[in-house]
Order: sequence, then C-alpha cells, then structure tokens
Amino acid sequence: MVSPESMADIAHLNGMRLPARGEHFLRIDSESALVDALSWAADRDVAITVIGEGSNTVMHPLVQGLVLEMAIPGLKVMDDDGTRLLVRAAAGENWHSFVLWAAERGFHGLENLALIPGTVGAAPVQNIGAYGFELASRVRSVYCYDRVLEEFKTLSAADCHFGYRDSIFKRTDGAHYIIVAVDFQLDRNAIPVVTYPELKQALGQGPYGAVEILEEVVNLRRAKLPDPANLPNVGSFFKNPAVPLPVAESMKVNWPLMPQYPSAGETVKLSAAWMIDYLGWRDATHEGAIGIYRDHALIMVNHGAGSAAGVLNLATKIMQSVENEFQIALEIEPSLIGLPAA
Ligand code: EPU
Repeated sequence: MVSPESMADIAHLNGMRLPARGEHFLRIDSESALVDALSWAADRDVAITVIGEGSNTVMHPLVQGLVLEMAIPGLKVMDDDGTRLLVRAAAGENWHSFVLWAAERGFHGLENLALIPGTVGAAPVQNIGAYGFELASRVRSVYCYDRVLEEFKTLSAADCHFGYRDSIFKRTDGAHYIIVAVDFQLDRNAIPVVTYPELKQALGQGPYGAVEILEEVVNLRRAKLPDPANLPNVGSFFKNPAVPLPVAESMKVNWPLMPQYPSAGETVKLSAAWMIDYLGWRDATHEGAIGIYRDHALIMVNHGAGSAAGVLNLATKIMQSVENEFQIALEIEPSLIGLPAA
C-alpha cells in the first residue's frame, strides 16, 4: 500500500481553515485501500480519524494517529422500476455534485438539501437537514466497514438511529463503523416538501416542481450563508435546542419574538440564531480573527488567522451568555476532532 504522509498539512480539510496537521495521513480512493490503511494502523496501534472534506469539523492543530480522507468515488443506479430508484453514492462523492447529478437525471427527493458542503459519506453522520427536510427520509441503507468484525456491512436506515443532526455514527456505539457508501431511495415523481416558511415564500404561487425547489434552495443559501471558500465556516455552529412544551410556552411569554418550531415528540425547537443575535453577538469579531457572521448569528467565521482555541473560547462565551439569559444549554453542531467539548 501507499505509505501515509507524515505531518501532512490538512488545513484544507477543515471548514474553518484552521491550521491543522495529521500525524499520519492517507487519501483513500478504494475499499481495498481502506482495508490496507486500517491494517497499517492496527499493526502500529495507531488511532484512526476518518474525514470527508472536513466541512463540518473543527480540528486540533495536530490530529494524532492516522487521518483518512475518504475519497472513494462512484454513483450508480442499483434498481429502477420506472418510478422509484435505488441509487448508491460512494462516500467520497461531493454532496452537492451528487444532488445535481440526481436532479439532472430526473431522480428526485434531495432538492431541499442542495448546496450543503461536504461529502456523501459525511452526510449521514449529522443527518444533514435544511428547509424542512432531513437526509434520513431518503436513506435506504448505509454501507460501512465494521472495524470490530473487520468486514463490510449494510446498516438499514433504522440501524442508523437518525435524529436531528444526530445518528449512531456520532455515538460510541457506532464509532467502529466507517461509511463507505449510502443507498438512497429516490423518485421520478417526488412530492415537493415546501413546509419551511422561507422556502414557501420564495417559491410564491408556483407552479413549481423539483427543479424550482433546487434553484430556490441554492438562491436562499447563497443569499444567507457565507461561502466557505471565501469566508471559512462550518455552517450552523450550534444546534437549535429542543425543549419540553411547557418550557417553550413560558419562553413565549418572556421572549414572544423568538421563533419556535415543531420538533420530535413532546418538544419544541427554539431558534439558537435568534438567541445569539438577541444577545448582541452577530457581526462581532472576537478572539482576534474568529467572529460571528454579519448576516447570520448561528455562523462562526474565520477571518483569516483564527485558531481552534479561539473558536472554542468564543463558543464557550456564547454558550455561557445564552445559559445566563435563557437558561438553555446550547450544543455545538460540528464534529470536534482532537478537541475537548467546549
Ligand atoms: N435569526 C435571527 N438572527 C440571525 C439569523 C436568524 O434572529 O442572525 C432568526 C430568524 O427569525 C430566522 C430564524 O432565526 O427566521 C431561523 O433562521 P434560519 O432560517 O436561517 O434557520 P436556522 O434555525 O438558523 C437551520 C439549520 C440550517 C438550515 C436552516 C434552513 C440548524 C442548526 N441549522 O438554521 O442548517 O440551513 O435551518 O433549514 O438546524 C447547518 O446545519 O449547518 C445549517 C446551515
């Protein structure tokens, strides 16, 4: 196998473009290369960190052990009955390119998730979601390498325990799975999901179909969110907190302008962006180069010379101020690699 690179510069593989090196680093472009890399690490008792494009990660300046960039390519129709399709996308495919590839062929169902940065393999980890839609609703199964059993394995969508920005792959009981490909159930005649008020408003009276939804989602994201290529960021930095109904009711009395959204079970989601904005953090630069985006309080940005310590410092201050004002504990949304939870 190709030998891993030592002390590789992997700053391009983290969304905030923080200085980062991998103690050992390999780009994986096939299943056999993955198996070889894992045995290289096992022989040396070296820890493994798997990343895609790192677009939703905040990294320690030196990631210990072997860092694997999952770059396995491949898009394939596995089954097609003329109406419904099963499409397999390999982990290394860029997410947005895959959404466009499917839409161009009339394979619909992923339009609301257009322009989300990152790879296909990273998408199930956070169960990416946007504009009233979550990835989980289109996942049939996830094809993984099981590091304990040392074999490839297919997990059903139910096995993945998807939740809001959550899945088994984020938890210790799923840490031994490496995502190799994802199987999606797509439709030639998908029913558009237009529940998110902003998307509904942008689409107007219609008529609209999948193509118009994809275009509008791209427009909305471009208008609201900074392009990570120009202003490094990891999208939403905190999750929207879910609280029990009675808590949401009392918050409505104290802060009637705070948006609230329906959530799973007996809970209501509160707008983290609104809370952070209310407390005056938007468009502020803190910790030198790290700041909060001018047009959206949930986006932390790196203006150039930021550090992981600066990111966590600012995150801690924001979390404390939200806790003091609203008695709400915010949760960091991106994956922290080699860093303590703030
Ligand atoms: N708002 C403010 N100030 C701001 C920004 C927003 O008060 O600076 C308020 C507005 O009232 C706005 C509301 O917050 O209506 C919600 O804002 P937005 O529609 O942008 O949604 P969000 O809750 O901030 C979530 C996802 C985004 C996703 C959008 C659209 C999370 C953590 N974030 O953001 O996902 O694109 O909804 O569906 O759930 C991501 O995960 O990286 C991400 C960008």
